[in-house]
Amino acid sequence: MMTKLATIFVLLALSGFVTLKAQTTSEEIAKYREMLADANPAELFEGAGEELWVKPMGPNSKSLQSCDLGLGAGVVDGAFAQLPRYFKDTQRVQDLESRLVTCMQVIQGIDVKDIMADDFGKGHKKNIEAIVAYVVTHSKGMKINPPMKHSAEKIFYKMGEQAFYFRAGPMDFSCATCHGVKGQRIRLQDLPLIASNEGAALAWGTWPAYRVSSGEFWTMQHRLADCYRQQRFPSPQYTSDVTIALSMFMAAKAKGGVVQTPGLKR
Ligand code: HEC
Repeated sequence: MMTKLATIFVLLALSGFVTLKAQTTSEEIAKYREMLADANPAELFEGAGEELWVKPMGPNSKSLQSCDLGLGAGVVDGAFAQLPRYFKDTQRVQDLESRLVTCMQVIQGIDVKDIMADDFGKGHKKNIEAIVAYVVTHSKGMKINPPMKHSAEKIFYKMGEQAFYFRAGPMDFSCATCHGVKGQRIRLQDLPLIASNEGAALAWGTWPAYRVSSGEFWTMQHRLADCYRQQRFPSPQYTSDVTIALSMFMAAKAKGGVVQTPGLKR
C-alpha cells in the first residue's frame, strides 16, 4: 500500500502537477544563482585544494605535484575536461576522484582502505573534495572532451549506458526514470535530460558543485551516491567501476559542451 501511494505521489510529481509552482521556484533559483555567480563559495574549497595539492602528506610525506591526471605528471590545466579516460599504469578507466585516490596511494603512501572508510566531507574524502574543486576550476570554460579512443573507454561507455537504463529496486527506477524525460521535475528541481547532448552538457558540465542547501561541496561521486539513494538502490562503492562507467557515459554524451564547474546548486 505504502509503495503504491508513493508511486502515485511520484507520478503526480512527475506529471507536471506541480509545474506552476515549479516555474516560479526555478526562476527564483536561477536568480539566486546569478546573484551568487560572481562569488561561488566553492572558491573556499578551491583555495584549500590548491594548498593540499602542493603540501607533502601521507607516510611518504610527498605532495601530489607529480600526479598524472591524464595530460602528464603534474599537469592540472585542462585535465578534468578530458576525464574519465584510460590510464596505462593502472590499466583502468578512471574519473578524477579514482585517479586522485591512485596518486594518494602510490605517491603519498596513503592506505586506500582508510580513504574508503571516510564519509563524504570527512577525513581523506574532505581533502579529495577540495583538490577536486581546485582541479576542475582549471578546466573552466574549456570544451568537454573525453578522448573515447581506447577500447576500455568504449566498453565503459557501454557499461555506463546499461547502468543508466537498468531498472530495479522497490520502485523499479532507473536513472532514466528521473533523467530520461524532457521537462521533468522533482521537489521543484529541474531534471536535465541526461541522455541528450544538451542535457548531459548541463548535468556533467556543472558538476562538481557547491550546494547552497547543505553548504557542502559535492563531487560527482557524491552526486551519484545520492542519486542511487533516491533510486532506492544500495549505495555504490566509492570510485567503483559502475560509478566511473556512468561518468564515462555522461561525459561522452556531453562532448562539446562547456565545463562550467564548480557549479552552484540548490
Ligand atoms: C528518483 C529520481 C532520481 C533518480 C532515479 C536519479 N536521480 Fe539524479 N537527480 C535527481 C534529483 C532530484 C536531482 C537534483 C538534486 C538537487 O539538486 O538537489 C538529481 C541530479 C542529478 C545530476 C546533476 C544534474 C544537474 O544538472 O545538477 C546528475 C548528473 C544525476 N542526477 C545523475 C543520475 C544518475 C547517473 C542516476 C542513476 C544512477 C540518477 N541520477 C538517478 C533525482 C534522481
